[in-house]
Amino acid sequence: MDYSEASRPVAAQLAGKTAIVTGAASGIGRETAVLFAARGARVLAVDLDAAGLESLGEQARDLGLDIAGHVQDLTAEGAAERVFEACSTRFGTPDVLANIAGKAGDGPAGSTTDEDFDFFVSMNLTTAFRMSRQAVLQFGEAGGSIINTSSAFGVVGVGGSAPYSAAKGAVSSLTRQMAADYGPRNIRVNAVAPGLVETPATAERIRAGLFDDMVTRSRPIPRVGLPRDIANAFAFLASDDASFITGVTLPVCGGWSTTRFRAR
Ligand SMILES: NC(=O)c1ccc[n+]([C@@H]2O[C@H](COP(=O)([O-])OP(=O)(O)OC[C@H]3O[C@@H](n4cnc5c(N)ncnc54)[C@H](O)[C@@H]3O)[C@@H](O)[C@H]2O)c1
Repeated sequence: MDYSEASRPVAAQLAGKTAIVTGAASGIGRETAVLFAARGARVLAVDLDAAGLESLGEQARDLGLDIAGHVQDLTAEGAAERVFEACSTRFGTPDVLANIAGKAGDGPAGSTTDEDFDFFVSMNLTTAFRMSRQAVLQFGEAGGSIINTSSAFGVVGVGGSAPYSAAKGAVSSLTRQMAADYGPRNIRVNAVAPGLVETPATAERIRAGLFDDMVTRSRPIPRVGLPRDIANAFAFLASDDASFITGVTLPVCGGWSTTRFRAR
């Protein structure tokens, strides 16, 4: 057995790869874009938040990382085509797509309007579908890796989150289905299902203690997740170390969705 590959530095884990990361202006997406670039990838960072991408660009310049920003509203018609065109122009054919842009929302089915339902499906599922479809059309001979973002709320039933949970559950189904179709072309399709993670989307409610029960009483690892916890999973699934893994939704939640933990 040759271990020369196994002893390569982790900093080179994604060397030579070109990645598209969506939702890259903030939170989990931003951390993933920076980690991918720190591990050697060229990264097209996509988001509708131009100011956020600008500040990511400054961070990348300070760190000497190869990250280019691309402002795009992923819910707009033709957005996926424009993103892949921008990637081809800037870096060439991508090998990795991390679909991270998404938005959570509250509400049981009975008080969810059609408009709300459509919004959360569009934001969390349709954008990932369109980007993934474009990826399988554009990935080269060598194949590639698509990593979607599900949620712990898409894995177990949690009260008060009908449209978001439905969309995130469907992200996992799409992941399995596309893995089956595109494995023979060496395209792997996986998802990460984060539990509660402190990002600009959650920080205020975490500080207000709204999730204390969920975190301290029902997780074997009783802390709030960090964006890096999730980015590490994205980096692994993007890398060749995961070359025999496809169709999985990996929970990264301190055991919240994977155990029936009872605090003693
Ligand atoms: N934070 C958590 O606790 C948590 C838990 C489970 C799943 N998630 C999922 O992780 C992903 C990232 O969440 P986060 O907490 O980092 O959120 P965040 O709000 O910090 O970042 C989301 C990013 O997506 C961008 N975005 C939103 N709509 C867009 C659109 N139409 N086009 C392009 N970009 C758009 C936003 O501008 C923002 O930069 C989401 O899919 C979310 O559902 C988060």
